[in-house]
Amino acid sequence: MKIIGTGSALPSLSVSNDMLAAFLDTSDEWISTRTGVKHRRILSTETLFDLATQAVEQALEQAKLTASDIDYIICSNLVNIYATPSFSSILQGRIGAANCPCLDINTACTGFVYALDIADAFLKAGKVKNALIVCAEEPSRIVDWTERDASILFGDGAAAAIVVPGDDLRAVYLSTTSNIDSLYYQRKLEFNPFVKRKEYGKPLVMNGREIFRLAVLNSISDINRVLDTAGVQKSDVKFYVLHQANMRIIEAIRQNLGEPEEKFPHNLEHYGNTASASLPILLDELNKSNQLQKGDILVLSSFGAGFATGACVLHWSGN
Ligand code: UT7
Repeated sequence: MKIIGTGSALPSLSVSNDMLAAFLDTSDEWISTRTGVKHRRILSTETLFDLATQAVEQALEQAKLTASDIDYIICSNLVNIYATPSFSSILQGRIGAANCPCLDINTACTGFVYALDIADAFLKAGKVKNALIVCAEEPSRIVDWTERDASILFGDGAAAAIVVPGDDLRAVYLSTTSNIDSLYYQRKLEFNPFVKRKEYGKPLVMNGREIFRLAVLNSISDINRVLDTAGVQKSDVKFYVLHQANMRIIEAIRQNLGEPEEKFPHNLEHYGNTASASLPILLDELNKSNQLQKGDILVLSSFGAGFATGACVLHWSGN
């Protein structure tokens, strides 16, 4: 596969650390030094479908395609107002795509790398010509806004990529190790007269230190593994495009790899952790600001609830 168009969209409301400190026992100083986050965008008047639609329109424009050219839609999403129908089927109608298959995936923050791998398989099999990948997330609707532990980290956003047949995905590594307790959100299901056990919905529960540890360890080994598989030297890598969860996580990975700061672009200071949208939003920013040249080698690496990880080596042949 190769990516021939990208797009991204963020909510208009920007929420600063000071705005959070007005109702949470936290401070700009704590959040900035422990996470690197300064602002996050939060959905208020728009919907997640609005953001996803904007991101898709940009990606289609760059790819010089129209929605009717799309023959497969893959959406990565943790949660949205509809448990059914799928996010992708709703988005299909919003963007005016023809009656192509629509598939939702939930591999938490690793969704973009998983989606690239799925699209690559469909494209290689000759089943699909123009796949649309969308990562759209509103973690602001699963965190507990009365607690400071997780709410300060996240933001909402969406990104899209159009992928067509090509040879840009040089190595992929995906992993999942079942680990529920470290990071989960439990929605409340409807009343059922036959279920007697007590059930409560639970806002996002996160063992921050454990996720931090798993993120750093796994990202480092995943990155080394995909570089090895692709036969790529670190010196050949233009950018490491990492999941935007915490600047200290990015820095720990960077130091272990022994690579310079300029190879680790970041935007989490503006948007916080936008779950699976974080990586493709950053990729779109690099693309739109002309920082990606034909022939560049990128390493993508992400991690999240599951505990799931996904990394790949991407050759950039451009649009
Ligand atoms: O997509 C994956 C999503 N999740 C992640 O990426 C999470 C990864 N983990 C992290 O980013 C970090 O572990 C956190 C930012 C969540 C926490 O940072 P930390 O350096 O691991 O802090 P800590 O949990 O060890 O807490 C240190 C102190 C504690 O106080 P005491 O016990 O030392 O008195 C906490 O109660 O900081 C306190 N604290 C806060 N203080 C002000 C925890 N959260 C806050 C807060 N504001 N928001």
